[in-house]
Amino acid sequence: MTTAVLITGTSSGIGRAAALSLVRNPEFTVYATARRPGTLTDLAEAGARTLALDVTDETSRAKVVATVEAEQGAVGVLINNAGYGEYGTVEETGLDGVRRQFETNVFGLARMTQLVLPGMREAGHGRIINVGSMGGRLVFPAGGYYHASKYAVEALTDALRFEVAPFGIKVSLIEPGLIRTGFGDTAAHTLAGSAAPSGPYAQLNTTAERQMAQSYSSKRLSAPAEAVAKVIEHAATATRPRARYVVTPAAKVLVHTRRLLGARAFDAYLRMQFRSAA
Ligand SMILES: NC(=O)c1ccc[n+]([C@@H]2O[C@H](COP(=O)([O-])OP(=O)(O)OC[C@H]3O[C@@H](n4cnc5c(N)ncnc54)[C@H](OP(=O)(O)O)[C@@H]3O)[C@@H](O)[C@H]2O)c1
Repeated sequence: MTTAVLITGTSSGIGRAAALSLVRNPEFTVYATARRPGTLTDLAEAGARTLALDVTDETSRAKVVATVEAEQGAVGVLINNAGYGEYGTVEETGLDGVRRQFETNVFGLARMTQLVLPGMREAGHGRIINVGSMGGRLVFPAGGYYHASKYAVEALTDALRFEVAPFGIKVSLIEPGLIRTGFGDTAAHTLAGSAAPSGPYAQLNTTAERQMAQSYSSKRLSAPAEAVAKVIEHAATATRPRARYVVTPAAKVLVHTRRLLGARAFDAYLRMQFRSAA
């Protein structure tokens, strides 16, 4: 009997790379999911089972978990990966878009977790791997709402890890730094659409966009999706998976720097970065 791995958001990026890596492990039966199942043809060819899943839709969520449970008994490993960044300043970003982002990044993750837990508890084991972000440990300007969603994932993951440990369920949080996927383009697109070009934050938004583009195109600062997939595989297979995995050397330095510097000193560091990007 294999372990069923259910991954959200595998149409591209980290989710796709994780599915491709896990499908090579004979211990696993991988369920790769996406809103548009047409994007999953190559994952099906690689050996994954593919299902349609929009993590914001209850009918879709319940159907996917019921399908995996009917075929495999229980979900063995849930990888909550689906997510994106709704960027823009706190004042100008439309809250409808922010709510949609929270529906995906936070409530989608929370509800998928709620749906798989009864089966995992009954089985007496299971793993939940949440894809958070280094952005759950520090905040960049014009990203407050995205960071808020990832801070929420940090809190939920910490509570969950404690709550479900007595049932044999292990919980890990993956905190990637800058990863070269579709994420950067989506974030830049939402940032560009978040405010009028002549508004009070126009200069800040332009600088943030430039800074984002420069950082994602730097091989020193960013990494490919496979770097995160490798860490997800470790969290899915290690006897004692870690509570947190910061991914990329640059992210480790930044998280450490934020911990060492107080809020004011970190603001000063950011001002320097923004000045050089401007
Ligand atoms: N790339 C980075 O720099 C970075 C850094 C830290 C954390 N992360 C996190 O890593 C995760 C994966 O992002 P990525 O970098 O791989 O970006 P990506 O290539 O844009 O992938 C995001 C995935 O999420 C899916 N998704 C979005 N809304 C969904 C919904 N309602 N239901 C189901 N799937 C949905 C997308 O599907 P569609 O194709 O249907 O849109 C896509 O498959 C996210 O949680 C992100 O916050 C990324």
